[in-house]
Amino acid sequence: MSDHDLPLILGIETSCDETGVGLVRGCELLGESVASSVEQHVRFGGVVPEVASRAHLEAMTPTVRRALDSAGVKLSDVDAIAVTAGPGLAGALLVGVSAAKAYAMALDKPLYGVNHLVGHVAVDQLEHGPLPKPAIALLVSGGHTSLLLVNDLATDVVSLGDTVDDAAGEAYDKVARLLDLPYPGGPPIDKAAQRGDAKSIRFPRGKWGDGTYDFSFSGLKTAVARHVEDADRRGEPLVVADIAAAFQDSVVDVLTRKAVDACVEHGVSTLVISGGVAANSALRTLAEQRCREAGITLRVPRPRLCTDNGAMIAALGAEVVAAGLPPSTLDLATDTSLPVESPLAG
Ligand code: KG4
Ligand code: ZN
Repeated sequence: MSDHDLPLILGIETSCDETGVGLVRGCELLGESVASSVEQHVRFGGVVPEVASRAHLEAMTPTVRRALDSAGVKLSDVDAIAVTAGPGLAGALLVGVSAAKAYAMALDKPLYGVNHLVGHVAVDQLEHGPLPKPAIALLVSGGHTSLLLVNDLATDVVSLGDTVDDAAGEAYDKVARLLDLPYPGGPPIDKAAQRGDAKSIRFPRGKWGDGTYDFSFSGLKTAVARHVEDADRRGEPLVVADIAAAFQDSVVDVLTRKAVDACVEHGVSTLVISGGVAANSALRTLAEQRCREAGITLRVPRPRLCTDNGAMIAALGAEVVAAGLPPSTLDLATDTSLPVESPLAG
């Protein structure tokens, strides 16, 4: 079957502060659109759930329209609808799931409630083609830090480890706040770090060499806070670039080491890194170097596909449909803590 004969999947994502809609056939991305409410959260230093939910409601139909236009297709061409059922913010998820049910009913097409986290991995297929089976995935976003053994995107995802406290992106956001850098903190820290000396300060490397695939970033965040307090007390100026570089060095060192170790232990030769933090330049550089040394093929989607979007949900929807899994019913519920090992909700 050529890609043209495959079903056209409409994907809807509203788990956090991005309203994302994507249109996918097989591994082909036909079009997508994202509306973000991040500007409305900046002054709070984090996402305000009620504000995000309202923004999703306002953005939903215009974003669907823009995605259809960019793909050059009509709503009536859609064969199935995939939507993020979890994990994520309760009210935000509810807007997307309600909209998806309405589209499914109006079009009389099947509905699939899928997992946001697995979507972050599935999206790589739109850029690099079918994922070899098995693959290891490092998922690093504002809400999650997980190492996954992906035997099959639709049916068999095994969690190898997770963060025991803060997610990697959350650590970036909290440290940015300590350094008076704007929210979200990843991009400004990434930029500041390029001018800094990573070896000037030695911050702790949480759960380094502990024999697990779990992560911990709250000790690192506390160490940065102590460093800032000590400098303040001594009346010394903060060398933001050095702190950013040393903090980032600790984060990317642990992430890449554990990801490569997981590939080696499981005899897997493909590593996918995805989620918002995968846009980080130091993480990309170190992962490339360590994967090359270990003979591992590294796949990182382009930054726009790494952050939350609708194409990732359509990509996973396409896998679920291809696997012949049963559609969700119209009483599909949202699940704020849907486990990563459930690609399909319910
Ligand atoms: O995947 P994502 O868009 O949303 C969630 O599902 O959380 O990830 C957002 C996170 C934020 O914490 C942001 O600070 C981080 O990704 N991020 C970065 C970079 N760009 C975004 N972290 C480090 N370096 C970056 N360049
Ligand atoms: Zn995400």
